[in-house]
Amino acid sequence: MCPGAAVTGWGGALPPTAVPNAVFEADLDTTDEWIVSRTGIRSRHVGSTVGALSTAAGRAALERAGVDPGSVDLLVLATTTPDQVMPSTAATVHHELGLGGGAFDVNAACSGFIYALLAAYGAIASGVVDRALVVGADIMSSIVDPADRSTVVLFGDGAGALLLDRAAVDGQFLGWDLGTDGSAHELLQVDHGGKITMDGKEVYRRAIRATVASAFAALEQSKLRADEIALFVPHQANLRIIEAVAERIGIPVDRTAVMVDRTGNTSAASIPLALAEAADAGRIAPGDAVLVSGFGAGMTWGSTVFRWGI
Ligand code: ACO
Repeated sequence: MCPGAAVTGWGGALPPTAVPNAVFEADLDTTDEWIVSRTGIRSRHVGSTVGALSTAAGRAALERAGVDPGSVDLLVLATTTPDQVMPSTAATVHHELGLGGGAFDVNAACSGFIYALLAAYGAIASGVVDRALVVGADIMSSIVDPADRSTVVLFGDGAGALLLDRAAVDGQFLGWDLGTDGSAHELLQVDHGGKITMDGKEVYRRAIRATVASAFAALEQSKLRADEIALFVPHQANLRIIEAVAERIGIPVDRTAVMVDRTGNTSAASIPLALAEAADAGRIAPGDAVLVSGFGAGMTWGSTVFRWGI
């Protein structure tokens, strides 16, 4: 039997400094009202480094699971904003946490956490490792142009982590879907040393279409219906996108994780942060089916359906 992988720990970390929308009104031609009505974002946290936030989120996940850091066989860290070009940020986080085994970074922009999760799940399911830490972390404030009102208000910084363990029973992860459309890479990009440029309207349109299709594909593979999903955790880019996607999939808002109002779009961190917050709030119990879906630059997208806990 192919071994499964179960989530046994989770954690999140945000920089201490919160930046409310009103801060942008001083220097930019924008208003709190515009930002809230178009995005649902009221505040975001800014500062720190990917390494420091990843270490904090990873440590929280390890402590939650009560495991020895040295027993972790693999660290996969999704980020678009690594602290250095080389080495990987995963290498420094691996050292800070005292992990065992290997460590590497993954870049799939805002979908990065799903891709990192798949890499860790695959390593466990194939029997190569027993325990993997998966982190999504981004310091988007380092790549936004502070003078560009159309992007600076959207993003924030943070990190989230899940610990995966070889499960006693098979099939904790029930369905997957991944996709990439590189022909659309110019819609959302950052050149070396540059800042984010984005065609917001087109990204918005594609985000809804691709996320809905991806979520349905993962649901179909899992053989579960939308009404059997206890919690939907979408990428947190924009409240309007989240609500449109949830409605089309057929999952009500009370079974959808929403954190974007307080964090903005934290890219690879957004899904594990929202999942960790929901888990801390007791919104999911062992055995509950969880659907997570991401969408981001590339364009990339991905979804997975899994059962929470062992
Ligand atoms: N304050 C005031 N006006 C603004 C602001 C602002 N902060 N930002 C842009 N505008 C202006 C634009 O300049 C434009 O003006 P113009 O018509 O004179 O050119 C106008 O607002 C556009 O207004 P709307 O059409 O009402 O804006 P829209 O409803 O499309 O919302 C937004 C814009 C929020 C960017 C939306 O398109 C969006 O959310 N797109 C998706 C962006 C996203 O989520 N990207 C990341 C996803 S992928 C990933 O996470 C990596």
